[in-house]
Amino acid sequence: MASGQLSREEALMRSHCRHACHVMLFSDTKAQLFGRTPMRHIVLMQMRFDGLLGFPGGLVNPSEETLEAGLTRELLEELGVALPVSVEDHVASCFAPTSSPSSSRLILHFYVKKIEEEQIKEVERAAASTATDHGHEVLGMVRVPIYSFKSGAGLPSFLSHSFIGNARSQLLDALLRFKLVTPEELHRALTQSVK
Ligand code: APR
Ligand code: MG
Ligand code: MG
Repeated sequence: MASGQLSREEALMRSHCRHACHVMLFSDTKAQLFGRTPMRHIVLMQMRFDGLLGFPGGLVNPSEETLEAGLTRELLEELGVALPVSVEDHVASCFAPTSSPSSSRLILHFYVKKIEEEQIKEVERAAASTATDHGHEVLGMVRVPIYSFKSGAGLPSFLSHSFIGNARSQLLDALLRFKLVTPEELHRALTQSVK
């Protein structure tokens, strides 16, 4: 296990820590950009209230609910849909980069869940209408362009935005782990990205 990484069980045994859970939702798609560039997958992130890109989810208190129940509750608030996330969807847990010394350490749990394209569209519709957090904590859902053009358009430009915490590396890890991009494609995109 990479340094700084914890197993889900190890993380839950740490006392005096706060916990936050976030999820990357994605689907396959046959859609083509401009009728010729295959989009291959839809990957969802969100524009947060602080102007940073991140994944849906939030703070969970494991003494009151399981991590996954807490994440499912956060998704209902932020996305407006009941989308159960389970232990099988857990991918990684790690300490957040330390912030204020006065606050207890934050452990970040990351999940990835594959759903159908139709469910992605339902999430997008609900997140922009019935979700209680819409327009407050969450300014809008965004799809991640996973294709790259020579000009730097697509994934390279997307990666040059600002992300909350380690959301950018969570995204890169998940794109590779779930084979949504090849290592070569990712390497090229990172070389073209200004960050
Ligand atoms: N990587 C690292 N840290 C993250 C990530 C991420 N991918 N996503 C969120 N965080 C941090 C945030 O900075 C925040 O401190 O995890 C914490 C909880 O995540 P949120 O999704 O912001 O929590 P949520 O419960 O949805 O909202 C509570 O209200 O009072 C504000 O600032 C407070 O962000 C908090 C929000
Ligand atoms: Mg929230
Ligand atoms: Mg949140």
